[in-house]
Amino acid sequence: MPSSDLRETLPLVYQNKARIADRFYQAMFRLAPETRAFFMGGFGKQKAVFATLIVRVAQSADSPDALEEIAREMVAAHRRHGVSADEFRVAGLALTEAMENSLTGEVAADQIERWTKVADTLVQRMIDLSG
Ligand code: HEM
Repeated sequence: MPSSDLRETLPLVYQNKARIADRFYQAMFRLAPETRAFFMGGFGKQKAVFATLIVRVAQSADSPDALEEIAREMVAAHRRHGVSADEFRVAGLALTEAMENSLTGEVAADQIERWTKVADTLVQRMIDLSG
C-alpha cells in the first residue's frame, strides 16, 4: 500500500482530526466504560499529539520500521498510565469506528479502508509490545 495514497487524503483527514479524536474516546468509553477513569485529570496534550500522530502514520504507512517506531513510542507513552494490552485492543476497535464515522462522505471508501488497515497494523503492534 503506497503511502502516497494516504498522503493524498491527509488534508481531508487532518481537517477532521478533532472529530476523529472525540469519536475515538466516545467509542472507547462506550465499549469499555472503565477506561474513562484514565482521563479524570483531563486529556492534557493528548488531542494535539493525536493530530501529529495522524500525520506521522500517513507518512509511515509503507514503512514497517517507521510504524514500529511509532508503536514503541505509543506503548512507552501509555506505560506510565498502566494501559493494558486488552485496553489497547478495545481502543483499536474504537479507532476504526471513529475513522469510519468521521470520514464517511468526506473521503472515498477505499481510502478509509486504507487508513483503518494502517491503524489496525499499528494498534496490533502496540498490543504485541504491551502484552
Ligand atoms: C489506539 C490506541 C490509542 C491511541 C492511538 C492513543 C493515542 C494517544 C496519544 C497520541 C496520546 C498523547 C501521548 C503523548 O503525550 O505523547 C495519548 C495519551 C494518553 N492516552 Fe492514549 N491512545 C490509545 C489508547 C489508550 C487507552 C486504551 C487508554 C486507557 C485505557 C489511553 C489513555 C491515555 C492517557 C491517560 C493519556 C495521557 C493523557 C494526558 O496527557 O494526560 N490511551 N494517547
